[in-house]
Amino acid sequence: MKRKHLILVLPAIFVLTLFFGCHHKTKIGILMDNVSLERWQKDKELFEKRARDFNADVIIKVADSDAGKQLKQAEELINNGVDVLIVIPVDVVKSKEIVKKAHAANIPVISYDRLIKDSNVDYYISTDNISVGEMQADYISKISPVGNYVLITGPTTDNNAFLLHLGWLNVLQPYIDKGDIHVVIDEYTNFWLPDESYNIMKKYLDGGGKVDAVLAGNDALAQGAIMALKEYNYDGKVLVAGQDADVSAIRNIVAGVQTITVYKPIESLVYAAIDAAVKIANGQAPSNMNITVNNGKKLVPAILLKSQIVNRQNIKMTVISEGFITEKELK
Ligand code: GAL
Repeated sequence: MKRKHLILVLPAIFVLTLFFGCHHKTKIGILMDNVSLERWQKDKELFEKRARDFNADVIIKVADSDAGKQLKQAEELINNGVDVLIVIPVDVVKSKEIVKKAHAANIPVISYDRLIKDSNVDYYISTDNISVGEMQADYISKISPVGNYVLITGPTTDNNAFLLHLGWLNVLQPYIDKGDIHVVIDEYTNFWLPDESYNIMKKYLDGGGKVDAVLAGNDALAQGAIMALKEYNYDGKVLVAGQDADVSAIRNIVAGVQTITVYKPIESLVYAAIDAAVKIANGQAPSNMNITVNNGKKLVPAILLKSQIVNRQNIKMTVISEGFITEKELK
């Protein structure tokens, strides 16, 4: 090419590169388990909001707690050409197929809130779930170091259910060994929903069982147990711990029928996940991966954030002051 032509063509190439280079919009695919629980509705809204901050496209698919459906949705997003996948797995084991399929298409995967086990998943962003269980058990056992304890965990398809249970026993085991605490119910549920915990609790109470404390994996499970306790007028007399700081749980705490919940920093979790996704999509390493978590196959680079206890005394200082819940919502 003649020099004169080059001088004309080069600026055009430069402009075109700038246009197409800068206008490749990051496309983030997000696979959610369900949005029937309040906490996941919050995550979903925040995913969308944070993606807008980066001018990134976000495609969210909700599996309605069906692992097969989630795999199909993963295939759709992979075919759609997303740059990166954020997955809240329905099933801790089956979701490794999602990682395999995404990797076959060179799409990195971030495991969000729940770990995908035995896979080459790229990153994990969550809270320290063992510590959540320990915090719940610690708080309740300090008030009641002796008595009948009901443990209702959550589904075995969710790794967090095991971690919470581990946290509970880390604290309770010495009391159990001494014979001070009796675990009268220790059950995993099929879903994180109240009807199962209601039935478990009701059956126990119908059989004349006595209970001093309930440790529940989330606020929905706590709510189910409270409903059964209420039928026997035991609500308010039994200690109850939940997780997620749902509005209904905070109301229960104000009413004195739930003792504590655990407040997860959902905004920070979402921001960490979207920020990491955008970086990965742009070929950069995500920041703040400050720990690794063994998923059975590899040490997964991870961010594990801290949660906090919400009790009757600190509602204003925690969930309200941080804008997680408004005072109006509590009325
Ligand atoms: C768990 C999560 C809990 C709760 C539950 C219900 O994986 O750690 O915070 O939200 O799911 O979906």
